[in-house]
Amino acid sequence: MIHYSCKNVSAMVVGGENGLNLDEEFGIYQERIKQIISDLNQRKDKPGQWLQWMNLGYNEETLWYVKEYASMVQGRFENLLVLGIGGSTLGGMALTEALLHPYWNMLPEEARNGYPRIFFLDNIDPDTMTAILDTLDLSKTLVNVITKSGDTVETMSQFMILKDRLEKELGDNYRYNIVATTDKRTGILRQIAEQEGYKMFVIPDDVGGRYSVFSAVGFLPLALTGIDIDEVVNGIKDMDLALKNTDIHSNIAAQNALIHYLLDVKKGKKITVMMPYSSRLKYVADWFAQLWAESLGKNSDKEGNSVNVGLTPVKALGATDQHSQIQLYNEGPNDKVINFIRVKTFDNILNIPNIFEYTGIGYLGGKTMNQLINAEADSTCVCLSDSNRPNITIVLDKIDGYHLGQLLYMLEFQTAIAGELYNVNAFDQPGAEQAKNYTYAMMGRNGYEESANIINEKLGNREFML
Ligand code: PA5
Repeated sequence: MIHYSCKNVSAMVVGGENGLNLDEEFGIYQERIKQIISDLNQRKDKPGQWLQWMNLGYNEETLWYVKEYASMVQGRFENLLVLGIGGSTLGGMALTEALLHPYWNMLPEEARNGYPRIFFLDNIDPDTMTAILDTLDLSKTLVNVITKSGDTVETMSQFMILKDRLEKELGDNYRYNIVATTDKRTGILRQIAEQEGYKMFVIPDDVGGRYSVFSAVGFLPLALTGIDIDEVVNGIKDMDLALKNTDIHSNIAAQNALIHYLLDVKKGKKITVMMPYSSRLKYVADWFAQLWAESLGKNSDKEGNSVNVGLTPVKALGATDQHSQIQLYNEGPNDKVINFIRVKTFDNILNIPNIFEYTGIGYLGGKTMNQLINAEADSTCVCLSDSNRPNITIVLDKIDGYHLGQLLYMLEFQTAIAGELYNVNAFDQPGAEQAKNYTYAMMGRNGYEESANIINEKLGNREFML
């Protein structure tokens, strides 16, 4: 199991002004946490609760279909190009970045065991999109278009370009180079996929984008690149079992949710830094940032009272960002909780040679890069604690599917519990809608004429913005 340490948020370590009396708080909140966990488990199968993400690890059918399709197309494609945005790509990016060789796309085909290179297009930058189209041999590329709603403007515009190019190049057979992951019943992508005869995967009902990593959304790209999804599933299941424990003393997701909540409401720590000490986990921080921000940042609570709550996620990478952000964390405003993610055993041990003994860097010779990254993480943790900056450490024994499954599931559960503590709906994102509507309006979508008038007037009044 992953290890979790929260002692550096205690008042004993970081002082009463910035830290918590954990024994006391866990005692006060024990009943509330018990109630939240029981309630989540009771509601998870009910339609309309958006808690189906808690069941994804047990969805044997999806796992079977994903594995079957992956084995069917194995060896047929040189490249896998994933189209999507937000929750439709961040999970796949986090897991493939962590679990594939760090330079997977540069490996020769034999070293990839015949599995394709993988590319994610999660933006609509005309230059990067043109570059990828210029780079990939589309006839040897499988395009996995992912959108739950089926009409996300960024994803569908990318898809239209790809479909057009593929068809021009491959004729009618183009459809075999497309696989769509979308809603079971509704949405434009579903309609197109049915009409055109694409292979399709389903995002189950009541699974929101940012909680969809363990559906076909994340699992298909994993399986297509040869990652053992059963290993990830084992991690999810073991963590799920552990998190069924309603005793806060034994439930790390509940502890981390409560700690972040209390440090916010009692001590003013409104910023959550996610800082893995592993480049392979860099995108876990990106994935978490979306999960935390969209789930908790809300203007009203479940009863409709105006609250404007939320914790601002910041992505950082150890040791790189020690030379960028740590100065601020140590000496700037004390408004953050830093979450370190550490790796106990890296896949490789890298020795630093005994050279330049006669110089000031001679001391490094004979040590390992592993010792160095651990020394840097330890030192940063101690310095932050000494500066009374609350921090948490999560340790993975190693980077593999099992531990990644555990980590991501734990962070999802933590987010759901935090949503309950703040009494907000952690599964909607109304604040992201208005800008989407204005974009539709500006691009001439039918039905958005009123929004078009409003946005044009606003832009007209503020020409300086352009
Ligand atoms: O978490 C969410 O629901 C969002 O971030 C979505 O994942 C994102 O907007 C993409 O939506 P869709 O999958 O409908 O294209």
